[in-house]
Amino acid sequence: MTAKRAGGARGAKKETVKPLISHARIQKRIREMGRQIRKDFPDEPILLLGVLKGAVPFLADLARQIPGEVTFDFIAVSSYGKEAHSSGQVKLNKDLDSSIEGKTVLVVEDILDTGLTLQYLLRILQQRRPKHLRIAVLLDKVDRRTANVHADYVGFAIPNEFVVGFGLDYAERYRNLPHVGVLNFPSTDGAK
Ligand code: IMP
Ligand code: MG
Repeated sequence: MTAKRAGGARGAKKETVKPLISHARIQKRIREMGRQIRKDFPDEPILLLGVLKGAVPFLADLARQIPGEVTFDFIAVSSYGKEAHSSGQVKLNKDLDSSIEGKTVLVVEDILDTGLTLQYLLRILQQRRPKHLRIAVLLDKVDRRTANVHADYVGFAIPNEFVVGFGLDYAERYRNLPHVGVLNFPSTDGAK
């Protein structure tokens, strides 16, 4: 497949996005994941706990593929020191609306990278005594893992490249792409 021009309507942006996982493949995989999740918890109401903002498209589609009782809640975190390499500091920007005590909770995240974000989230959520606490991620960059975290449900394992689309952003852009692609930055001496 060819790389598409990824700029906005005015064509001012210089990066390109090379398609990696099509919308159709994502939807097929999400259907399988939804069925598997319900199979693992046949009789339980499932609380989907979305990590804002990247998990929103994944959560919306996954929720519709899990039969039976499903509810949503959202949490927002930001991590520091990414560039400085794993300071491991994560800040809670928005907490959940309700208690998770005694509930079957599925944390829904866009991508598992170093794992530091989910490690932090699991620590604070576990303290609140859910009945079950599981993780679903759309993408898993296995080679980047530094924290000892593994996801129970993984959409796709991907190579160590910066990806955007289907919720994932670069500087808040590209979240609305219906597919996942690798973001390519043009060489600095490239034409504007
Ligand atoms: P971790 O704490 O290193 O696992 O990072 C997880 C978070 O980093 C994700 O929720 C994303 O917001 C962000 N992230 C990691 N890799 C990518 C990527 O390739 N594209 C966009 N965001 C990413
Ligand atoms: Mg995120």
